[in-house]
Amino acid sequence: MACFFRRSIAEKLGRTLQQSEDAFIPALSAVPVFKKQQSADFKLSISTLRVSGILPSSGDIQLQTENLANQLKLDSLVEEISAGSGVINFKVNRKLLVQKMLEPFGEESEKFGLNSELFNTLNRGTTLVEYSSPNIAKKFHAGHLRSTVIGNFIANLKQSLGHSVIRMNYLGDWGMQFGMLGAGFGQFGCREKLKQNPLQHLFEVYVQVNKEAEHNEDLKQAARDFFRQLEQHESEAVSLWKQFREITVDEYQHVYKRLGVNFDVYSGESFHQDQAQEVVQQLQSRGLLKTSERGTGVVDLSPAGDMSSVCTVLRSDGTTLYITRDLAAAIDRQEKYHFDEMIYVTDKSQANHFHQLFQILPALGHSWADRCQHVPFGLVRGMKTRSGEVVFLEDVLDEARARMLHNMSQSKTTKELENPEDTAEKVGISALIVQDFKGPLQSDYTFDWDRMLQAQGDTGVFLQYSHARLCSLIRRNEGAQAAIFDPSLLLEQTSVTILQHLLRYDEVLYQSAQDLQPKHLVNFLLKLCHLIASAHRELPVKGSSEDVAQARLRLFSGACSVLANGMRILGITPVDKM
Ligand code: ARG
Repeated sequence: MACFFRRSIAEKLGRTLQQSEDAFIPALSAVPVFKKQQSADFKLSISTLRVSGILPSSGDIQLQTENLANQLKLDSLVEEISAGSGVINFKVNRKLLVQKMLEPFGEESEKFGLNSELFNTLNRGTTLVEYSSPNIAKKFHAGHLRSTVIGNFIANLKQSLGHSVIRMNYLGDWGMQFGMLGAGFGQFGCREKLKQNPLQHLFEVYVQVNKEAEHNEDLKQAARDFFRQLEQHESEAVSLWKQFREITVDEYQHVYKRLGVNFDVYSGESFHQDQAQEVVQQLQSRGLLKTSERGTGVVDLSPAGDMSSVCTVLRSDGTTLYITRDLAAAIDRQEKYHFDEMIYVTDKSQANHFHQLFQILPALGHSWADRCQHVPFGLVRGMKTRSGEVVFLEDVLDEARARMLHNMSQSKTTKELENPEDTAEKVGISALIVQDFKGPLQSDYTFDWDRMLQAQGDTGVFLQYSHARLCSLIRRNEGAQAAIFDPSLLLEQTSVTILQHLLRYDEVLYQSAQDLQPKHLVNFLLKLCHLIASAHRELPVKGSSEDVAQARLRLFSGACSVLANGMRILGITPVDKM
């Protein structure tokens, strides 16, 4: 495993420089592979050693590099050392590389890379990840889909690295929209339709009532009345609201299941309505609540204290706002779950909202606010289905499945599938996820069905196809696999390159855990699939002698495990056939 080599090289460095070996671990990294090109396995960054004070930070860096390289001696593990520009390159013994990297695939394949010592420095405690968080009765937009898949990835990643993770959905289940819905339901609603197609029906009623209210003052008043009844917990209003909420959650759960996403807690703005008033009181008693000229309650966030930048926490009619409920919700979560960190996943337009939230919490004495983080993402342009603009998440999933099923029907292997719809669903969803994860989260992107579903490009379909092909190879050779294999039969450049690539897996996960960006893992897996494609051509199993076949199968099944593990962290369910 990568750790073993990193540790051994660090030991050598520690001995040579008479320093603790641990100090060298952060400066060592696996060298990224370039197709077919021979390269060293690890590199040591001299500038990192200068920054950490192990080497003097003055003087010529190249001279330092060469001097150190000259002091280091080869041994049975390291067979080549060379000075590059500001780095020292290490090539490890080939047979040992093969043996150590493929050893873990004997039994603990799912754990590959996860026990790396790189993760020892991570602060593994309770992580609360809040994601998806759609609004009841309003439409589910592309931003909610992004939040859902990104949050799921972050939760999966943290969980794999040993955090205890709480997955939370914070529904937009409070606010004036319920006044509108409540008032409108009596007029435009239908209980039967509500049962049959709740999301659709609530949305219809919502659209209709908003339209009607434009020229109907009575309806507007009725909406305000209904919301006031809700805020005062009047039982009839509350019971209707409860129904809307329950039905919506049931429906969403069904869709989340298709997506392979789940939540430990369905929270929502409604839960924190009373606590939000308490927060206002606390702000008041700390002298932080000011009254604006318009009569609203505000908190001064300007550095100079001159009210040049304020955050409104109370309307002039005494009702609370989105931010007030978020303040209350954060405090409540800390009290209930004692999280060590909390992560909010929403589009970047809410960056300022979270910035304000993280400023007000410490002012209320909550120092844990510095362990809260907002992960922002960019906009998706042009998410459309054949029937037009997307209103519900389910439409997107249906379309992905239908398009994938159509593409698959062109291939002959599809006929042998037991449940082609199910396969098409999983592959279609991976296409959505990879399209979303390929770039930096902050970037906007244009939704493109054709591009994301290409079988050959850098897509989720390609990941699934590569995985299914490996599974099929392994299935066809079930009898030929053995517990032992001869590492000296895997010394071709093609297999060494794959193993060198796998050396980076723990570093890639580590990097993702640092910046919470899925692109590192996606690009790592896509690259792995390209390398595997060459290996299929160049390292045939069929027609090879028994021991060569055994060794190659070990390599393929190792690659297959890492691919499957990585896909699962991304939130993709790997398929065995397609
Ligand atoms: N429901 C909100 C929306 O759709 C997202 C909620 C994000 N989370 C939060 N704690 N504010 O825009």
